[in-house]
Amino acid sequence: MKSVTLNNGVEMPILGFGVFQIAEEETQTAVEAALAAGYRHLDTAASYGNEAAVGAAIKASGIAREDLFVTTKLWIQHAPAGSVYDDSRRSFHNSLQRLGLDYVDLYLIHQPFGDYYSEWRAMQDLNKEGRARAIGVSNFHPDRLVDLIDHNEIVPAVNQIETHPFHQRAADQELMRGRGVQIESWGPFAEGKNNLFSDPVLSAIAAAHGKSVAQVVLRWMIQRDVVVIPKSVRPERMAQNLDVFGFTLTDEQMNQITALDTGASLFFDHRDPAMVSWLGGRRYS
Ligand SMILES: NC(=O)c1ccc[n+]([C@@H]2O[C@H](COP(=O)([O-])OP(=O)(O)OC[C@H]3O[C@@H](n4cnc5c(N)ncnc54)[C@H](OP(=O)(O)O)[C@@H]3O)[C@@H](O)[C@H]2O)c1
Repeated sequence: MKSVTLNNGVEMPILGFGVFQIAEEETQTAVEAALAAGYRHLDTAASYGNEAAVGAAIKASGIAREDLFVTTKLWIQHAPAGSVYDDSRRSFHNSLQRLGLDYVDLYLIHQPFGDYYSEWRAMQDLNKEGRARAIGVSNFHPDRLVDLIDHNEIVPAVNQIETHPFHQRAADQELMRGRGVQIESWGPFAEGKNNLFSDPVLSAIAAAHGKSVAQVVLRWMIQRDVVVIPKSVRPERMAQNLDVFGFTLTDEQMNQITALDTGASLFFDHRDPAMVSWLGGRRYS
């Protein structure tokens, strides 16, 4: 498996398995199937409600801990309830306990809302204590990312953001590259929105390589050095999504995909006040 080297030297597999929206009772089976298919990089979050099932699958697999790369995420801590620094550390240890692990490979601030500066200071300490080999953020627009970098000690290793053919984030990626932050895509298939799987441009490129649209999309991002974490509950698709290292898109095909960019989210805008408030009102620890 190809990997990227993060800004602190940690190696991160460029392709992993995401478990968002997999029901807790289905997650252990799905993750066991993904590990059997060959995935060694898993992406979960406190808010997904399935960390314990991910942990159970890891345990059942018997795969050595050092051969896995496990990411989880800290949800927005509610400041009035207490100290965000302490609450963040408590949330982290809750996640570790649910996962049945001693450390995670990557710990992310899930959303750029609330007192994420205190969250980041807790994460810096967890990193120094060896509990999170790398720390990073998610859903940060460049302005907030740069501000966080400029006023803290550790530069986030990763920013996990919505990235797919209809929202490509090339300028964000360039900014992040300049600051030493690895881009990671969430929603690589845009969860099928905008008829991604039957898009004529992607379908023609897929046909030219004898591959599926999903494989072309993942390959396109890997050629752009974007880390990808596709989700599927179907073993045949898990295997297909992993099989993207045996072909190369031409410059012309890469450019054809570049032309699909709309420059806008297909999900929601992290700068929409109603969405900021809605997300900020949710509680996970
Ligand atoms: N940080 C964040 O805020 C954030 C937000 C969203 C997601 N994420 C992370 O990113 C991961 C991936 O994003 P996502 O789960 O939202 O969506 P996604 O990976 O873009 O799309 C998943 C959808 O595509 C289908 N699919 C998967 N492989 C396919 C294939 N080869 N052919 C046809 N359909 C296929 C799946 O269906 P089946 O399962 O039925 O195969 C599912 O409906 C998440 O699981 C999560 O780990 C993070």
